[in-house]
Amino acid sequence: MKDVYSQFSNKPNETIRARIYENLGIKFQRIAKGIYKTIEGNESCIIIEGDGRDLSFLEDNSIDCIITDHPWSDKKSNRGGNRSFSDYECFQYDTNDFKEKARVLKDGCFLVEILPAENESNFRYLYQLKEYAEQNGLFYYSKVTWKKGNFVSNTGRKAKNSQDVMIFSKGKARNMRYDSKKSALMKSECYMSGTSKMLPTMFDVQPVQTNKKIHQSELPVSLCEQIIEYVTYEGEVILDTFAGSGVVGIAALNKKRNCILIEKESKSVEKILKRFSNNLFFENPSYSQNPRNEIS
Ligand SMILES: C[S@@+](CC[C@H](N)C(=O)[O-])C[C@H]1O[C@@H](n2cnc3c(N)ncnc32)[C@H](O)[C@@H]1O
Repeated sequence: MKDVYSQFSNKPNETIRARIYENLGIKFQRIAKGIYKTIEGNESCIIIEGDGRDLSFLEDNSIDCIITDHPWSDKKSNRGGNRSFSDYECFQYDTNDFKEKARVLKDGCFLVEILPAENESNFRYLYQLKEYAEQNGLFYYSKVTWKKGNFVSNTGRKAKNSQDVMIFSKGKARNMRYDSKKSALMKSECYMSGTSKMLPTMFDVQPVQTNKKIHQSELPVSLCEQIIEYVTYEGEVILDTFAGSGVVGIAALNKKRNCILIEKESKSVEKILKRFSNNLFFENPSYSQNPRNEIS
């Protein structure tokens, strides 16, 4: 983001922030060096080549939801499954990552972290993440397993065919769940604290076929679409700080949500741009008939 700010060195940072927000909803393609945008109907997706751990360009309380799959550093987990050694930069979260996420999220909104299944080498780290989250006001809401359909990878001690979808809320979860009893009593629509519907026991979704993947750790669009429907409303802004293949952006547009994607590696950003401009909306053939703006 420093590079982006230097492009506008005669203007205060707020101006650039404003440009990012203003442009959610206005048709154009390249906002600044390393910042791109695509539009679908009234919603848009901004793609930023940058550091997803530096959210300083975002205002406090400005994001409706964060859905992300951080490049967790764990040699043991990264081996086997669909990750035969990650081919991208990995790291371990620290408390500041959660401090920043909590700062940019609106009160009551949800942070969704896609995490590896627990094992003998990562259990301390997975526990530590929940501690970091809570220390920063992001409370444990729920954890739902993603069962990878009938996919089985039986390397190691047990079959690795699941990951976890870990959901936190900033403070008390906002009121998204329809309260039928209260609504009948009050004769108006009433909602109670929680996700839009009761969360399932598991998301049972087949992983992306290897020959259709553009990223080693690509999540299925339909998994992201399902998550999005539980934790956001149409028109809201979702942030993915480690975008990979850009799937969260695809799912967000499919579900009429705005999205900001951040990805560090320029080769992945290029693939995201190509995916958007070529309408490579795997698992959603209706989109392949829907022409999209070319991204330069
Ligand atoms: C696990 S992958 C995300 C996969 C993604 N959810 C998908 O379904 O395609 C993590 C991504 O984070 C990127 N990354 C690593 N460090 C980063 C950083 N500091 N800022 C932004 N992206 C980063 C990696 O290049 C990688 O593409």
